[in-house]
Amino acid sequence: MSKTPTMRLDRLLANLGYGSRKEMHGLVAAGEVTLDGVELTDANARIAIGPDLPVRMTIMGHPVDPPPPVVIMLHKPVGVVCSHKEAGRRIYDLLPPRWRVRDPALSSVGRLDKDTSGLLLITDDGGFLHRVISPKRHVPKSYIATLDRPLTGEEGAVFAAGTLMLESEEKPLLPAILEPLSETKARLIIEEGRYHQVRRMFAAVGNHVVDLHRDRIGGLILPDDLEPGAHRVLQAATAELVFAG
Ligand code: URA
Repeated sequence: MSKTPTMRLDRLLANLGYGSRKEMHGLVAAGEVTLDGVELTDANARIAIGPDLPVRMTIMGHPVDPPPPVVIMLHKPVGVVCSHKEAGRRIYDLLPPRWRVRDPALSSVGRLDKDTSGLLLITDDGGFLHRVISPKRHVPKSYIATLDRPLTGEEGAVFAAGTLMLESEEKPLLPAILEPLSETKARLIIEEGRYHQVRRMFAAVGNHVVDLHRDRIGGLILPDDLEPGAHRVLQAATAELVFAG
């Protein structure tokens, strides 16, 4: 049986972004941290860290943030960027500010471009991230594309062929599944994550994507009640649905 990992309380809280270790000593001394309903008095004490920590520990009267490893589902709105390098409002600005200084750091699992909305996962778990984006896993990602022009009826065969070459690329795309939803709307399921892939696929068949939304990764579906800009911490079993698609 694997032993539950432990960490010093001051370090745990500092790593979760609540402040410096010195500040955490101050918070504990002020009676602001409880475990199982009891005020903690020793910031040097080792604490068992498990997924149930937020239901057991409070800090300043609120449940403590989930400890690593964590997987967060974000409904990315249009107009925010995933990369630290790009200018503009970032996905991390939609999360509590202290999460920006968590250690280990949070990163997005792949990217959605600025003009794409929908399901985006954010994690501090490198193993999970690599399992999702690994080309070997073929995790299907589902997008709803709204198009400038009506579908011709030929796109499905072109995308399914596994021979489509995008401009300035050396390898053809893997087969993808197109499901028309209306004259100008379609679901496209792809297993890769090439740069602006969906927009470039429709451009390659003479169309133009005017709106793009990702609604699924594997078997994980963006819930209707998660508003654009809102996020949710996932239970480990829910995050694993990604591999059940
Ligand atoms: N394909 C795109 O064109 N954009 C995205 O954000 C994701 C897939």
